[in-house]
Amino acid sequence: MSALRELKILAFVVVVVGILYWGVEPLAHSVFHPKTAPADFAFSDLEKLPTTGNMENGKVLVNTYCIACHNIEKEGVVNNDVAPSDLIAAYGVLPPDLSNIGAIYESNFLANLIKKPTKTLKMTHKFENEKNPMPFPMTPTPVSDAEIGDMVAYFVSIGDKNLASSVENNKEYTTKLDAINKSDISEENKKKQALALKYHIENKEIFISACTRCHSMKYDNITSSTPSKDIQNYLGAKAPDLSMMIRSKGEETLSKFINDPQKTLENAAMPRVGLNEYSQEKVIKYLESIGDSKKEQRIFVGKILIGFMIIMSIFAYLWKRKIWRDLH
Ligand code: HEC
Ligand code: HEC
Repeated sequence: MSALRELKILAFVVVVVGILYWGVEPLAHSVFHPKTAPADFAFSDLEKLPTTGNMENGKVLVNTYCIACHNIEKEGVVNNDVAPSDLIAAYGVLPPDLSNIGAIYESNFLANLIKKPTKTLKMTHKFENEKNPMPFPMTPTPVSDAEIGDMVAYFVSIGDKNLASSVENNKEYTTKLDAINKSDISEENKKKQALALKYHIENKEIFISACTRCHSMKYDNITSSTPSKDIQNYLGAKAPDLSMMIRSKGEETLSKFINDPQKTLENAAMPRVGLNEYSQEKVIKYLESIGDSKKEQRIFVGKILIGFMIIMSIFAYLWKRKIWRDLH
């Protein structure tokens, strides 16, 4: 085979691959995944409401209006009179604990949630007239915007930084920390592992507050607090198990979806969650730690593999040259 002919074949392959790679693939990609704006953590579609005010008054209002359905464990508000199954039967889904909402949700989102839940959760395509998802009116008697500010201020005041008290009371945290402290590794390594554990449990606590009333996480032994068939009755779709979601969707798509499901999935059955940027990043880190715990090794091995292929290609080429030189 002449060198020229070889070059022509090479050029042909390069052109075909080039068309597929830069022409067809991006086109197909843009059709299946239209470009969407990045996550909007300001939730700028919402009305600007007060998010500060009188915490003491906020506490009184919250204890008047919210604890019929919600627990606030951190404040000792735990209602054992009503069985979870009765709450699910009444409201469609188990209402989440409110201990950390002031720390993990964006404050103006929270204020709007109290005022107009259906619109704030972007559920108007499912529930008309602010009747659902939270059975409304959330406050049987109307409250003023200033009173909403008082309630948000109260929630912000009880939500501590890095969810410290929730982490310290987490059983997994205390047992694993104990094991680290008893192991015979250096003090420095103990400190490192303890810190990594603390971050992981914080990520997990945020995930539990925001997601597990609907979703399970089988790889971490978490079952949704509302059975999957009840979620289907309530929202018209099952909430998928999230163990491997980070692999199938990737970080960027997930970030947009969690921030605003309607943006990437038309008529999505999932309400908008309203996490602030910090907390959403932590939720994604948690999903990564469970579904893609070997990410760093995977990328590292990938690089080594590519390097290996390049070197082998060079050898193959040199070898071919040598054989053909003798045949000419
Ligand atoms: C009649 C029962 C009921 C009352 C009263 C109620 N809620 Fe809820 N709340 C729910 C239910 C049910 C959900 C779950 C809705 C869903 O996930 O679709 C919920 C969800 C929430 C969420 C999570 C929203 C999100 O974005 O994930 C917050 C925060 C919240 N409620 C705060 C409050 C506050 C603050 C009050 C008092 C002003 C209150 N709720 C009063 C039933 C109630
Ligand atoms: C009130 C229930 C509810 C809550 C709370 C909730 N989800 Fe969902 N989620 C759903 C439902 C229902 C679906 C299925 C959506 C559909 O098929 O329209 C879904 C779908 C998803 C999907 C799959 C999207 C896709 O394109 O297939 C991901 C990822 C997801 N949720 C992540 C989360 C995360 C992370 C959280 C917490 C920050 C969360 N969800 C909170 C109900 C919920």
